[in-house]
Amino acid sequence: MSLAVESRGVTVRVPGKINLELVVGPLREDGYHELATVYHTVGVFDYVTVTAADTWSVQVSGATAAGVPTGSGNLALKAAKMLARRYGVEEAATLSIEKNIPVAGGMAGGSADAAAALVACESLWELQLTRDELEPIAARLGSDVPFLLHGGTAIGSGRGERLAPVLARGELHWVLWVSTESGLSTPDVYAECDRLREAAGTEAADPAPSGELIAALRTMQTAEVGAALRNDLQEAACSLYPVLREVLEAGTTLGAQGAIVSGSGPTVAFLVGTQAEAIDLSVGLAARGPAGDIRRATGPVAGAQVIQSVAPTGPHNFTG
Ligand code: C5P
Repeated sequence: MSLAVESRGVTVRVPGKINLELVVGPLREDGYHELATVYHTVGVFDYVTVTAADTWSVQVSGATAAGVPTGSGNLALKAAKMLARRYGVEEAATLSIEKNIPVAGGMAGGSADAAAALVACESLWELQLTRDELEPIAARLGSDVPFLLHGGTAIGSGRGERLAPVLARGELHWVLWVSTESGLSTPDVYAECDRLREAAGTEAADPAPSGELIAALRTMQTAEVGAALRNDLQEAACSLYPVLREVLEAGTTLGAQGAIVSGSGPTVAFLVGTQAEAIDLSVGLAARGPAGDIRRATGPVAGAQVIQSVAPTGPHNFTG
């Protein structure tokens, strides 16, 4: 028999996102690009557990843990500290992150963990805040963080942080190709997009979401959604990471009804009609596509959600 004190702790599950549409407008004076995007969460999840502690710390485990900072550069830690400062919380916490979302993969994994940390700390510290009230802090942490508080399918504008709901009924089946080599830096991909535009002499117009995608999402017809997928960063991501052209080609040849680089890449998302088609495509890609991890996921799913909360119970008996 041993005696232990169980600390207060909260675990939040948070998904990654893909962009069904990403229209990149002009570069703004603050260094961001004006965007019109349609965000969509898919069922690839990180788990963030926050536990009351005397000092701040981060631990990272899981399939994609390599390369995630555990010091002050960790975005989830920044999120927790920012929330504490804003609401006068004097406690610290240990953050344990179980990572499955690709790192530097264009699926907003770091932003997802930040959103999860906000939701977990809000619950741990009993701040009684709504998701909408967490949004201003989320937006300061990163353009995608507000969306991951909510999840689902939503239009993002501004630099991506201003959200509006999209009417989307039903489910989409995705096969994801995830690079097993290094990821892509988001600022580098935006800079490459600007460079390619300048070289081609094209000027970015004010961005707007296309009516085709929004109409297709109302009925979730796979072929229509697949035909309406668009990512203005795709050329730039392919230019920096040429194997992506082969990945896109392989999935399309194997029957995907839509193929798109996710956000700033290098993750590639293929749309298929059913679970069975997803299995066929993932087997085909693993056998014949460029080397990478192949995952299956459905979307949309909810954003950051508390899945476990351990109350302070004082000394505890464990037998065994
Ligand atoms: O907002 P976030 O920190 O995720 O953005 C990372 C980088 O991506 C920015 O510093 C910027 O270089 C680029 N970015 C952009 N326009 C956006 C969003 C991000 O240029 N709307």
